[in-house]
Amino acid sequence: MTTLAIAEKKLQDMGYLDIDVDPTLDLFEEIEKLKKEKNAIILAHYYQESDIQDIADYIGDSLGLSQQAAATDADIIVFAGVHFMAETAKMLSPNKKVLLPDLKAGCSLADSCPPPVFRKFKEKYPDHVVVSYINCTAELKTLTDICCTSTNAVQIIESIPKDQPIIFAPDVNLGRYLVKKTGRDMVLWNGSCMVHEIFSNEKITKLMLRHPDAKFIAHPECEEHLLEKADFIGSTTGLLNYTKRSEATEFIVATEAGIIHQMQKASPNKTFIPAPPNNTCACNECPHMKRNTLEKLYITMKYEQPEIILPDWIIEQGRASIDRMLEISARAGL
Ligand code: 13P
Ligand code: SF4
Repeated sequence: MTTLAIAEKKLQDMGYLDIDVDPTLDLFEEIEKLKKEKNAIILAHYYQESDIQDIADYIGDSLGLSQQAAATDADIIVFAGVHFMAETAKMLSPNKKVLLPDLKAGCSLADSCPPPVFRKFKEKYPDHVVVSYINCTAELKTLTDICCTSTNAVQIIESIPKDQPIIFAPDVNLGRYLVKKTGRDMVLWNGSCMVHEIFSNEKITKLMLRHPDAKFIAHPECEEHLLEKADFIGSTTGLLNYTKRSEATEFIVATEAGIIHQMQKASPNKTFIPAPPNNTCACNECPHMKRNTLEKLYITMKYEQPEIILPDWIIEQGRASIDRMLEISARAGL
């Protein structure tokens, strides 16, 4: 049984997974009360549903969320995001209680790089430094020298001496983008994100023809052929900032559709069109991110479950890779 399955079973035995929420409750009010009572902070990623973004104390990308998790003086961190993000928060603040509303909120990209397989792969390149995208498991971070996010990846790669060979894991699309951007010839692990890989080239091309003045903006987890078409490539925060400062009034947005909530709030007179996936949906949502709901957030805060628990050795051996990332980011003013 995996650690996750054991934790799920424990929650099932406690009856936690069967709790019903009184439909007459004003959940916004109740969550605000619980935040104060418990000195808890809600950190939410931009891909969370709009209600969760609206009640969060901080909304951001993976770098901003890590910086907040490291700096907060709250007793409880409620992480409205996915499992690897909550694990990172726990590694950065091991003495705090870190809660995740749904333990099954995983990540296809993190799953695409199982640590035992990566360990063997790494053995083939003993002289290489390992840079891992933060979207990986806590255990993979123990096999990593420096973490990065899409906001600081270029600066992290450029901080490594030019003659030092690098393995980049787990996202092959971000890896290819970085090879182009930095001119470094890295060994790439072949992982990917199910959300950013499913965009439809054909539908996006049609949209671009129908909206010739729209800027096409994309996250670097997208495939190379889409990034080649993009007017701007950036992390979620990078994309949001671009839409704020751009003089354009229409944008086709190739990342998870949750970010559009903040784009629309910041620029109410601009139009944001979610880039469509290669299926019957009009927009592209991450099923893992969307496992969190306002109800689950309320239950999590009330019962202080499910909690992220990590073995000490993982925290001890994995944390250095995140600390190095935060140091380089701070030096780069990020
Ligand atoms: P950023 O918000 O750091 O750009 O990451 C995107 C993502 O896929 C998170 O799961
Ligand atoms: Fe993982 Fe992709 Fe979902 Fe981000 S959007 S959590 S990378 S599956």
